[in-house]
Amino acid sequence: MDTVKLWIDNIETEVPRGTTVLQAARDLGVYIPTLCHMQGVNHSSSCRVCLVESGPRLIASCTLAAEEGMQIRTNTQRVRDARKTTVELILSDHNQECPSCSRSGTCELQDVAKQTGVRQVRYIGEKSHSLVDFSSPSMLRDTSKCILCGRCVAACSNIQSVGAIGFMNRGFDTTIGPAMGKPIGESVCVNCGQCIMACPVGALQERENMNDVWQAIADPNKFVVVQTAPAVRVALGEEFGMPVGTRVTGKMVAALRRIGFDKVFDTDFGADLTIMEEGTELLHRLETGDNLPLMTSCCPGWVKFVEHFFPEMLDNLSSCKSPHEMEGALIKSYFAQMMDIDPRRIVVVSVMPCTAKKFEGQREELGHDGLKDIDYVLTTRELAWMIKEAGIDFVHLRGEDFDNPFGEASGAGVIFGTTGGVAEAALRTVFELVAGEELDTVDYIAVRGLEGIKETTVELPNGKTIRTAVVHGLGNARKLMNMIRKGERKYEFIEVMACPGGCICGGGQPHVPAALRDRINVKAERAKGIYGEDEASAVRKSHRNPYIKRAYEEFLDRPSSSKSHTYLHTHYKVRSRY
Ligand code: FES
Repeated sequence: MDTVKLWIDNIETEVPRGTTVLQAARDLGVYIPTLCHMQGVNHSSSCRVCLVESGPRLIASCTLAAEEGMQIRTNTQRVRDARKTTVELILSDHNQECPSCSRSGTCELQDVAKQTGVRQVRYIGEKSHSLVDFSSPSMLRDTSKCILCGRCVAACSNIQSVGAIGFMNRGFDTTIGPAMGKPIGESVCVNCGQCIMACPVGALQERENMNDVWQAIADPNKFVVVQTAPAVRVALGEEFGMPVGTRVTGKMVAALRRIGFDKVFDTDFGADLTIMEEGTELLHRLETGDNLPLMTSCCPGWVKFVEHFFPEMLDNLSSCKSPHEMEGALIKSYFAQMMDIDPRRIVVVSVMPCTAKKFEGQREELGHDGLKDIDYVLTTRELAWMIKEAGIDFVHLRGEDFDNPFGEASGAGVIFGTTGGVAEAALRTVFELVAGEELDTVDYIAVRGLEGIKETTVELPNGKTIRTAVVHGLGNARKLMNMIRKGERKYEFIEVMACPGGCICGGGQPHVPAALRDRINVKAERAKGIYGEDEASAVRKSHRNPYIKRAYEEFLDRPSSSKSHTYLHTHYKVRSRY
């Protein structure tokens, strides 16, 4: 390997050519603070917080390539003073209502101010014009907190290929937002929240629905039901100091009961239902050859992306509602009937790892009989805030089970939380349904893992072939869609999750501290938690879930019946690409 030898604070080290000084220092255990730098996302070198001395120069280490014989100093008085001045200048134009900010405690600017020894801000002057944008049901944009690091722009453009936001104006008037000063809710933003995950401060956050939920719980006339998505259980613990990927399913259920929900259901049941409907849809399309490839529709960020950028392929999207919407529809029909409750009294709350689900929850077409399927969506972070507000000692809670009938799910429902999970769950069921007998085949390893685009071909016992592609991250999805448009690729089935890694790294998940984020593979750790729950499940195929069978016997009739089309299916619309 081509390597270079350099000295950092007089410590000799040898690194592959092309390694940055920042990385070389971190590998040595020398911590250099950063703000605009985000591994794999943004390398713009704009904030100057990571300054080091290289000979006579003060230079940003995050983009400085290590060279043979370099002498780097990270801890001289000059370096410390320069970093401190830089942070003070950033703070001089920053909204400092820190205690009430949603990022208090996870704010990277707060961390960097501590790390650089800032105790006061010596520079006081005019503040730049600020704006709070409430136009989106998914996210809130507060420019008074923005530090113009550009991480959100890089996430939206480079990773997601959406390009909803960018830098505007010059100098002191520079701001970040949608083109022409449009509100974000009127832009091509798909609400994935990857900009929120990239933001080091509180300039971008979810639109909060915690107060709506507290009010519903306090209302004696309401019957408040909560359901939780699979990815929430492998991330929620991080908000309480547990290692990344710790599975806290039972504690989460117990905490939800203590908060005061009348029933605690599992969205994994809705995922099993999705497989029943989507698997049937796939088999039907394989038979007729219509609208292939079938593209999954569980991810509302991906659905809106297709509506904006690939409208000619809307018919390829599965007509299935996403799992929590299906479950919401059944709660307000089948469950209401079973419990003899007026569905107008039922409030359905979904806890999701996702900000796009907030937008999805408000789509007019997702409801029936004048009732929305879902009333409120909370992110994983909002649930953690509610648990803290309720004074619950989460770490020491004893685990409890979900309520039935929507608390029993198969392992296939659980793996919906990670990239490849929907495809694997569908293949488990479709293969066995076609074979007409119980088979040992459970794991489809080829669709697992973090490669951007994964492919596998499954030969069904009836001679049909399912060429499958699995994509995560919308930048990868755009690449795949363009290849399909050009006729370079042919598939029968495509799974897309908008967020890199899938729902486990959705826009509503806990923020991982910068120092930890660069040391561990967050996606892999959370995925491990998901597959662990699948392996521990007694039933690992959706069609074998006894409560799913019962729902069809007692209410839905059969997959793709007219009743299931009334409650479980939907349609999409063309949206402007500007
Ligand atoms: Fe290096 Fe911002 S972190 S310039």
